[in-house]
Amino acid sequence: MGLGERPPIRLAASILDSNLANLAQSVRRCVRAGADRIHLDVMDGHFVPNLTFGPRTVRALRAVTDLPFDAHLMIANPSRFVEEFIAAGCDSITIHVEVDEPVGPVLERIRGAGRLAGLAVKPRTALEVLDPYRPLLDVVMVMTVEPGFGGQQLMRDVARQKLPRAADYLAPDSADPAVHVDGGVNRDTAELVGRLGADVLVVGSALFARGRVMAEEIARIKGLAEAGRAAGIPARAAAGGRAAVVGAEGS
Ligand code: DX5
Ligand code: ZN
Repeated sequence: MGLGERPPIRLAASILDSNLANLAQSVRRCVRAGADRIHLDVMDGHFVPNLTFGPRTVRALRAVTDLPFDAHLMIANPSRFVEEFIAAGCDSITIHVEVDEPVGPVLERIRGAGRLAGLAVKPRTALEVLDPYRPLLDVVMVMTVEPGFGGQQLMRDVARQKLPRAADYLAPDSADPAVHVDGGVNRDTAELVGRLGADVLVVGSALFARGRVMAEEIARIKGLAEAGRAAGIPARAAAGGRAAVVGAEGS
């Protein structure tokens, strides 16, 4: 895919740190403010030390907007719930490669339902573990914080180490391949992750921070990331990342 053909960088708004007393209103705020996608952090209190919401909540929120829903399942047994998140109307479903059950069959079920399938990797998990699943991956989600909570600092070393290579693990036949970066993305880190190759920015607390105008924050973060991407292509080409290939085709 030539440079010019890569879709613009998109922002997926995470509602984890929003007003949990009114999630529908939080989603509407993100839609009005120009978010491209809604990122839904599902936590079971086992895989991560936090508990959020399940498929019934996602199904209820589905009626609020037509924006794509990205489910990020931080749960120990995704095979047990994947059908319910498909039925709830998720456009993409990303599970963690670290779970203690076979992930291939779950990814196949997601794709079989015509949804985008993804694997997330925790900060200390090597990207190489994704290799066997590459033919099934529409989403590679690079966690730049330890999963479980919003409002953490982005791990810059993890971003530098993984983002330039994450696209190498996306399925060649994917209809909408994308590297998602999740955790600590804000106005201070957007240029870095854009330069390093992120396609979808998951942003939570930065959007809901007091005193911020969400629409301005979304525009600022996307603008910084796009500027980083434009500056970063030569650097990534030198590093032998995807841009090297893309640059060759696109030159
Ligand atoms: C953390 C979640 C992230 C988080 C992002 O486990 O997966 O999606 O909500 O929130 P911020 O942008 O505050 O790091
Ligand atoms: Zn997430």
